[in-house]
Amino acid sequence: MTKENSASQFKGKTVVISGGAEGIGLSIAKALGEQQMNVVLADIDDKNLQKARTELESLGVPVLSVSLDVADELQWQSIAQQAVARFGKIHMVVNNAGVGGDSGPIESQEKEGWQWALDVNLMGVVYGAKVMVPLIKDHGEAGWIVNVASMAGMGGVPYSGAYNATKAAVVALSEAWAEELKAAGIHVAVLCPAFVQTRIYDSERNRPTRYKSKTLNPDEESSFSKKAREMVQNGIEPALVGKRVVEALIEGERYIFTHPNYRQVVQHRFARIDEAFVNASKSPLLQHLVDQKLDML
Ligand SMILES: NC(=O)c1ccc[n+]([C@@H]2O[C@H](COP(=O)([O-])OP(=O)(O)OC[C@H]3O[C@@H](n4cnc5c(N)ncnc54)[C@H](O)[C@@H]3O)[C@@H](O)[C@H]2O)c1
Repeated sequence: MTKENSASQFKGKTVVISGGAEGIGLSIAKALGEQQMNVVLADIDDKNLQKARTELESLGVPVLSVSLDVADELQWQSIAQQAVARFGKIHMVVNNAGVGGDSGPIESQEKEGWQWALDVNLMGVVYGAKVMVPLIKDHGEAGWIVNVASMAGMGGVPYSGAYNATKAAVVALSEAWAEELKAAGIHVAVLCPAFVQTRIYDSERNRPTRYKSKTLNPDEESSFSKKAREMVQNGIEPALVGKRVVEALIEGERYIFTHPNYRQVVQHRFARIDEAFVNASKSPLLQHLVDQKLDML
């Protein structure tokens, strides 16, 4: 099959993209719109949502824009109903909405900041899949779930425990869902970008009051977070990420990487894990398990 033929698999189908008002989400919306998909843009930022809708419509993409806080399952159900009412079926969900969360040493981190990162970056992805999967299964046509994690989900980055934890969880649940949903014809992919020029380091703009901590002053930026902000400013163009996602979905990739130069991070991590298994296999305590048959689900 040529790439042109395989790309047509998206034509006329419908994608729901959370956090689609700007940044990586909007770039994916544009790239899938170019593939002639109907796009449902869902975001907590109504002003940018309208701007994004106008931009996509000017490119000829059929768009429905809906207000959504991904941390609220009921709102997901409402956008699913609106999307089906407008386009008939949903084929793909891109769980992209995310926030940087608080950064700094663990002892300075407050539970409100942890909860915000967990609710948006993790539960937002869980609800997106939980609500959309039954609708995809029902029509029985091809389906896709694309979860946006990060290179931060592939290995620990100091001073950003909550962000790391949520992104590692998104990688793990994508791997679990990829196996679970294979039989239903739903392809699950996880996008793991390194630095991309977006406003992720200004996530504070979307932080609801309930997640604001009394003790943490968001204006006091740590030197770690200043450095990370600089790296985001020098990151790749968001447009490249959208195109890369389409390319990877056509190829059926499970892990979607945007920065091949970061391969050594993963190689280093797995080399250390492998080394730890060698150590375990030499332990006198564990000799009876070394050659035992593997029990896997
Ligand atoms: N920019 C990077 O360097 C980078 C790297 C790796 C992963 N990511 C991930 O990419 C995804 C997109 O982020 P981005 O870089 O485009 O940042 P961004 O801040 O430019 O865009 C995030 C979008 O999500 C929306 N959003 C925030 N909270 C929301 C909520 N509760 N409900 C619905 N929408 C919400 C925002 O309004 C915004 O439109 C995130 O999951 C982020 O963690 C970004």
